[in-house]
Amino acid sequence: MTVVIQSGTILTASDTYQADILVEGEQIKAIGTDLAIPAGAQVINAVDKYVMPGGVDVHTHFDLPMFGTVSSDDHYTGHKAAAFGGTTTVIDFISQDFAPLQACVDAWHAKADLKAAVDFGFHMNISRLDEQVEAEIPGLVAQGITSLKVFTAYNNRLRLRDDQILRVLRTAKKYGLLTLVHAENGDVIDMLVAEALAQHHVEPVWHARTRPAWGAVEAVLRSASLAAESEAPLYIVHMNAAGEVDMLSYAREQGLPVMGETCPQYLFFSEDNLAQPDGAKFICSPPVRSGTDQQRLWEGLEDGTIQVLSTDHCPFFYDGAKPILYEGKAVAIPGKELGKEDFTKIPNGLPGVGDRMLVFWSTAVATGRITPNKFVELTSTNPAKIFGMYPRKGSLTPGADADILILDPNQHIHYGVAHSHQRTDYNLYEGWQLTGAVDKVFLRGKLIVDGKEWHGQAGSGKFIRRKPFEHLI
Ligand code: URP
Ligand code: ZN
Ligand code: ZN
Repeated sequence: MTVVIQSGTILTASDTYQADILVEGEQIKAIGTDLAIPAGAQVINAVDKYVMPGGVDVHTHFDLPMFGTVSSDDHYTGHKAAAFGGTTTVIDFISQDFAPLQACVDAWHAKADLKAAVDFGFHMNISRLDEQVEAEIPGLVAQGITSLKVFTAYNNRLRLRDDQILRVLRTAKKYGLLTLVHAENGDVIDMLVAEALAQHHVEPVWHARTRPAWGAVEAVLRSASLAAESEAPLYIVHMNAAGEVDMLSYAREQGLPVMGETCPQYLFFSEDNLAQPDGAKFICSPPVRSGTDQQRLWEGLEDGTIQVLSTDHCPFFYDGAKPILYEGKAVAIPGKELGKEDFTKIPNGLPGVGDRMLVFWSTAVATGRITPNKFVELTSTNPAKIFGMYPRKGSLTPGADADILILDPNQHIHYGVAHSHQRTDYNLYEGWQLTGAVDKVFLRGKLIVDGKEWHGQAGSGKFIRRKPFEHLI
């Protein structure tokens, strides 16, 4: 299939210019003004629209078992929601549920491969470490899995000790992987949770009160010090606290190879939301915090301390007893109601993979807070670079995959659950007035979203074998 996208405003992380894009097959063939239209080509008029690389969301949890239920988007519904929101590549986390690691990788492929509707990659969680696991890590690189996630929280479940994290960092460095860290203080959380429950504090707001920000702050500095010791690159996931940005900034000033991401929920919501009657809707780990934290995270995105805006998409129904209609079928999946009597039983995580691009465009670009180029950098180019997919993903250049988002900046949307395609019964941005709309989305040259129409297909998303770590930003 040949496509010419005509007269759009091309947006990259560095440039803005008027041009046509010629797509042949799965790739961009040429970019220029007044390109000749090959016979039989589909012509798309992009006048007054922005044409940019499809979004890259490097933090999703589809079909993730948790607290006796499962995150409510699988690798089809989550991908479809991503596509409707302008995202064409996602990276999901493999749980280390069994030994060997290869069995975990195979299990994630079995869940994802036939459902994938956008391109995708995997990170590997390392939540148990022994010599066998260490010996398997180089084999991940050969399969295109070039990042590992470790945890300083979730004691007796996912957490590694500091010496184990140091070992992971050394092995990762040796074989070209990037280590991601979930930074909170697991010991303190367990103690505060036990105290809260003993005092019958069971409401959702206690989720935040038992996961203090300073625990996240010290865990960022602790992780950065392990990166210093191992000289290994490190990436802080789901940054949520002002002090974390300060610690990341300090580490980077010292020349350490440390980077980080934040997610929209940490820019817009706070403990006040957790204190609402429907506070369970906002439960995620780490928790949403305060206005001061939001402000510092925004500054971190603006000044380059934070490199990526991802989502940590991990949705659950608010009321999993009540079905919703999804593609014409009634679906109900147990969700946040599981913790009605006890905040520790509320599944952790929020929807967002389909919301990220438009919500951020509307609040950051349409308001003049960041430039359109910075938007592309944070949502597509930087994540593609950091996670070994650039320039195939995250760029508009000849030879790159034709993953293209056409965004109409002149539309206004009354946003909410009815608009988003995430398979859950609520939306964090319900009733928000957004400026900008996803007009069209191409995945490797194929039009998969055309306004409200879905042309994507389960199984058409490709697994991306990512390159070893190279781009320190
Ligand atoms: O609440 C969240 N974020 N659930 C997903 C797991 C994680 O730690 O990212
Ligand atoms: Zn995490
Ligand atoms: Zn996560």
